[in-house]
Amino acid sequence: MGNPSVSRRRFLVASGGVLAASTLMCGGVTVLGSQMPTIEYVHASCGKEQNMNKVLVAYASKCGSTGEVAQAIGQELCARGASVDVRRIEEVGDVTGYDAFVVGSAIRMGSWLPQAKNFVEIHAARLRTAPTAFFTVHMLNLDDSEASKAARAAYVAPVHAILEPQSEAFFAGKLDLSKMSFLDRMISRMMKARDEDKRDWNAITAWAGQLLPEAA
Ligand SMILES: Cc1cc2nc3c(=O)[nH]c(=O)nc-3n(C[C@H](O)[C@H](O)[C@H](O)COP(=O)(O)O)c2cc1C
Repeated sequence: MGNPSVSRRRFLVASGGVLAASTLMCGGVTVLGSQMPTIEYVHASCGKEQNMNKVLVAYASKCGSTGEVAQAIGQELCARGASVDVRRIEEVGDVTGYDAFVVGSAIRMGSWLPQAKNFVEIHAARLRTAPTAFFTVHMLNLDDSEASKAARAAYVAPVHAILEPQSEAFFAGKLDLSKMSFLDRMISRMMKARDEDKRDWNAITAWAGQLLPEAA
């Protein structure tokens, strides 16, 4: 975000203002708010099929940046010998063909996207019996202060209540106002947010690299 000290509370206040505005405009903004620009979500596979453990990297994203993080994780796992599918959570049906799972989500308004939490809930029985890692992509509360650590823990508390992952990481994400819905762009502008890409590809790759003994 433009101002990293901006809290989740300010996000909620900003979104409350936008929602109030949309009500005043008799729902017109609601229609605009649901319109998303076209986004190319990552859908990728790598690694040889034979004699390999198969890893699913499943991600939830609104504007696409979490998919690119998922892709980098998948590429590193493949470079280390795994066979990997990187998929949007919405695309994943059956998970029985996979031996290990990496599940990630962008943060919106202090939470994982609902489809990511639903995925963990629906497939909890399988995920509990296989190596499973979580990653979270976000823009606030990135430092090592106690307040930021507590905020990050709060982001994932609902999903941890379902399942404790064997490994977990939080990564700085990306804001691209041109890829947001009208409503999200309004919220971001009220927050004085600007386009910014804070993704640290070395940190993402390093985390993925140490997953392999557990993940594949
Ligand atoms: C409307 C909106 C709300 C957001 N809320 C939060 C938040 O509560 N905490 C946070 O750390 N980041 C927040 N972010 C930042 C996103 O998590 C970050 O930009 C992420 O990279 C977006 O991932 P995506 O491109 O896959 O959708 C928010 C972004 C938007 C546009």
